[in-house]
Amino acid sequence: MKFSRKSLIVAATVGAIVSSSAFAAEVTEASSEKHAKAATQYRQAMFQLVRSNMGPLGGMAKGVLPYNESVMQTNAVRLEQLANMMGDYLSVDTRKFDVETGAKDGVWENFSDVEKKIMALKSSAQGLQAAVKSGDESAYRGAIGKVGASCKSCHDDYKKD
Ligand code: HEC
Repeated sequence: MKFSRKSLIVAATVGAIVSSSAFAAEVTEASSEKHAKAATQYRQAMFQLVRSNMGPLGGMAKGVLPYNESVMQTNAVRLEQLANMMGDYLSVDTRKFDVETGAKDGVWENFSDVEKKIMALKSSAQGLQAAVKSGDESAYRGAIGKVGASCKSCHDDYKKD
């Protein structure tokens, strides 16, 4: 079979479009100090929401709070939704400006890896929903543990401590 040069270029372009569409967000540089400050505030506000949904789950996994299936379900759905927006909120590169941030420079140097870690959070949140749906109490702790591990995995590489 013979492929023309042009058809190879077309195929490569289509492949690039298809593969990049798997990633929702692309890194863009903040355009001004004001933009960088706002983007940092939104980013941190989003993580505060992540924390408020994770807190009760952590308490349940530790046995400090009793398992509550409705809270587990609600918070797991919210964590999935927050994971869906995380790429957009993390993608604004604020490195050029003087902002108070816990984000390491690596976030914007390795964004495809950051997106993998976001996907890990998303699938662990879905896993928790599946565990709740199955009603198998012995699976709850492990499912919450996977969500927590996905936070840690990203923080270890991309968050200052
Ligand atoms: C894909 C990477 C990633 C994942 C996944 C992630 N985080 Fe973070 N988190 C960050 C980064 C980067 C920052 C620093 C943001 C900043 O200060 O600009 C941060 C900051 C935070 C903060 C501080 C927010 C503030 O007000 O300064 C909290 C709390 C937090 N994360 C909780 C969590 C929890 C809980 C999870 C899991 C359910 C989680 N994060 C998952 C990357 C991640």
